[in-house]
Amino acid sequence: MEATPNTQQQDDDDIVCLDASFFLNDNYQLTNFTFGSQDIQLFCLQSASTDFDLTGQLVWPGAMLLNDYLSKNVEMLRGFTAIELGSGVGITGILCSRFCHKVVMTDHNEEVLKILNKNIELHSCSDNTSPSSRGLFANKLEWGNSDQINDILQNHPGGFDLVLGADICFQQSSVPMLFNTVEQLLWAGEGRRCKFILAYVSRTKTMDSMILIEASKHQMQMKEVPGTRRIVGNLEGVIYEITLGSKH
Ligand SMILES: C[S@@+](CC[C@H](N)C(=O)[O-])C[C@H]1O[C@@H](n2cnc3c(N)ncnc32)[C@H](O)[C@@H]1O
Repeated sequence: MEATPNTQQQDDDDIVCLDASFFLNDNYQLTNFTFGSQDIQLFCLQSASTDFDLTGQLVWPGAMLLNDYLSKNVEMLRGFTAIELGSGVGITGILCSRFCHKVVMTDHNEEVLKILNKNIELHSCSDNTSPSSRGLFANKLEWGNSDQINDILQNHPGGFDLVLGADICFQQSSVPMLFNTVEQLLWAGEGRRCKFILAYVSRTKTMDSMILIEASKHQMQMKEVPGTRRIVGNLEGVIYEITLGSKH
C-alpha cells in the first residue's frame, strides 16, 4: 500500500540519522600490562563499544591468556615468524615482536587498524627504529578474503611459523571464514610446520562445539595445551595448538 502524505511524513519523522561516528569512542588511554617479566604499555579503551563492530579497541581476556602463556614459553617464539589474526590493539603481536624475527598483525576494522598502527609506532619510537626494521607489520585482513591473504603471502613468501589468535571466536557467522583463512596460512607455512595457537575463551556451548567441528571439517588436529585451561575474566579459557592433520 502506498503511503499517504501524512503517513509518509510520519515515516520520515521516524528515521533516526545516526552514522558510525556517533558510536565511535577513540578516547584511548595509555595502559600498562605485565606478563611475567614483560611490561607492555599501549593505547586502548577500558570498555567495549557495543553498537558498532569495534571489539578490537580493547584488550580481551583471550589476549591476557595468550600473552601469559607466550611469556612463559618464549622459546617457541625466538627467531620465528608469526601472523596474528584479529589483532585488535596489538598486545599479543607486540609481545611476540620482542622475540620473533617477524610479526604481521592483522585486523579487518579500519578504526582498529588505526589504533593498532599507533601502538606499533609507540613501540618503535621507544627504541628509535622503524616498525618494518623491527619486523613488525600491520595489514588489513578480513577472514576469508583470499585477495588479502594472497597479498600478505606475496610479501612474506614461504608463509609463517606461527598463526596466532586471541579471543577471535565470538561470532558464529565468522568462524567458518576464520578456519578457511587459518587453513590457507597453515598450507602456506607447511614447509615450516606451521601451527595455529588459539587462545579460546568459552562464552557459549554452541561456539565450544563449533570450533571443534570447523577444525575437523578442515581435517585439522586440535590439541589442548596441557595446563592452560583456567579462568580469565570470569570465563573459562584454554590454549589450543592446531595443525594440518595427517590426511592433508
Ligand atoms: C574480541 S576482539 C579480540 C582482540 C584481541 N585479539 C584481543 O584478544 O584483545 C576480536 C578482533 O577480531 C577482529 N575481527 C572480528 N571479525 C573479523 C573478521 N571477520 N576478519 C578479521 N578480523 C575480525 C575484530 O576487529 C577484533 O579486533
